[in-house]
Amino acid sequence: MFFMDLAGSAIQWLVLVFVFTIGLAALFLVFLFIADRMQTGDAVRRNYPVIGRFRHLFITLGEFFRQYFFAMDREELPFNRAQREWIKRSADGRGNTIAFGSTRNISLPGTTLFVNAAFPPLDEQVTKTTPLVIGPNTRHPYAAQSIVNISGMSYGAISRPAVLALSRGAKEAGIWMNTGEGGLSPYHLEGGADIVFQIGTAKYGVRDDEGNLSDEKLRDVAAHEQVKMFEIKLSQGAKPGKGGILPGAKVTAEIAAIRDIPKGSDSISPNRHVEVDDWNGMLDLIGHIRTVTGKPVGFKTVVGSDVPFRELLDLIKERGIDCAPDFITIDGGDGGTGAAPMPLMDLVGLSVREALPILAKILREYGMKDQIRLIAAGKLVNPSDVAWALAAGAEFVTSARGFMFSLGCIQALKCNKNTCPTGITTHDARLQKGLVVQDKYLKVAHYAKGLTKEVETIAHSVGVSEPRQLKPHHVRIVQSDGNSVSMEHL
Ligand SMILES: Cc1cc2nc3c(=O)[nH]c(=O)nc-3n(C[C@H](O)[C@H](O)[C@H](O)COP(=O)(O)O)c2cc1C
Repeated sequence: MFFMDLAGSAIQWLVLVFVFTIGLAALFLVFLFIADRMQTGDAVRRNYPVIGRFRHLFITLGEFFRQYFFAMDREELPFNRAQREWIKRSADGRGNTIAFGSTRNISLPGTTLFVNAAFPPLDEQVTKTTPLVIGPNTRHPYAAQSIVNISGMSYGAISRPAVLALSRGAKEAGIWMNTGEGGLSPYHLEGGADIVFQIGTAKYGVRDDEGNLSDEKLRDVAAHEQVKMFEIKLSQGAKPGKGGILPGAKVTAEIAAIRDIPKGSDSISPNRHVEVDDWNGMLDLIGHIRTVTGKPVGFKTVVGSDVPFRELLDLIKERGIDCAPDFITIDGGDGGTGAAPMPLMDLVGLSVREALPILAKILREYGMKDQIRLIAAGKLVNPSDVAWALAAGAEFVTSARGFMFSLGCIQALKCNKNTCPTGITTHDARLQKGLVVQDKYLKVAHYAKGLTKEVETIAHSVGVSEPRQLKPHHVRIVQSDGNSVSMEHL
């Protein structure tokens, strides 16, 4: 009897709680209904109160779930699942051997195909990729070991553990790491890798009190044996004509000190080097930095057309080859960034696929291809991309986002928000815990080595003994009719 009474009152309580909850929910829905009807900013919510809210929710969730459930393997942008998975497998040190057949649609216009040799070199005939010297006539020429290297990402845009893992991974793999425009941090040096110091338009790390280039600071940076070259940033693919943007939330006390700027306020660099108005000024600046540092100096740029580069090469011819940059880094117009305005990201500058052959061609035309090394960046993250770039005329390839994927990036597209879920582009200590340097540096190294190895595999398959012997006639590009044309005829 006692138990029946107990059960009866429990049921009564449950019914009461249920009715109360339903009542509360109904009240809440009425509140939302009235709020949606009254507000004037959102037409869908005003016309379809409550239900209209789901649209926003689904759009937000779609951004996250599309990549898991809905997008096909080769569908997403900027990088599709097939590209990302290739990087993940090589970063994990797993082989990239697949079974049954390719899932790639090779009749799509723009697809790169390589021309296989009837009699490829025997395994014992292939040679290891040899170091290539940049700036042979400088006081400290740089014999760069690797074809594949890490592109500029500033400490600021990426986190302390990310910089550390990249620098240690770069050392392990024997590749260089570019500082990006945020100056040289202790974490760049800590790993022991070769460093390319980038001089952005704000001259972070090498500026005097007025923001001008300081020779004294340049000498200090150059004094580090690890710093092998200096790269002047003219423009970056994601935002040509616009300076760097580091949102205030990411300007910590340490980053502010390295950059010599106030803590917590947006770090915005000028949209170009204020002291350089033309190519003459650019060649003067290159010469000056080379004299002060004794190290190779080049510049990074986006290509819009061949015209400015013909002007540059004409000028070099006039002034003498000694004034030429030691290298030019071309960034594809669809390049990556920590933060950039959408119209510039989407619409300005040629992709590296178009830009690299243009620049390589005119360098050959002017007979300067051997003096000025070409470095290419812009979605060159898988073996076929790198092999294509070498055949198109690059001597080196660099990647930013490829190495971010090796660190565990999931393409959450949150680099500008300080909320990166993988700890790569955030200074939130809690999120950084996910990025364990001890583990990730090996992934960086595996990826660099795996990528190089498979570029070598492509090179051997087309019949040359090392990747830098790849030439345009080894590549065919699929046209709109589904047939391919040799790259040398394009
Ligand atoms: C998070 C992030 C930060 C970057 N910071 C810089 C920078 O400081 N300086 C620069 O020249 N490029 C910067 N870039 C551009 C890269 O160096 C590279 O040129 C571009 O992303 C294209 O290469 P990718 O397709 O391999 O990423 C940045 C890119 C990313 C994703």
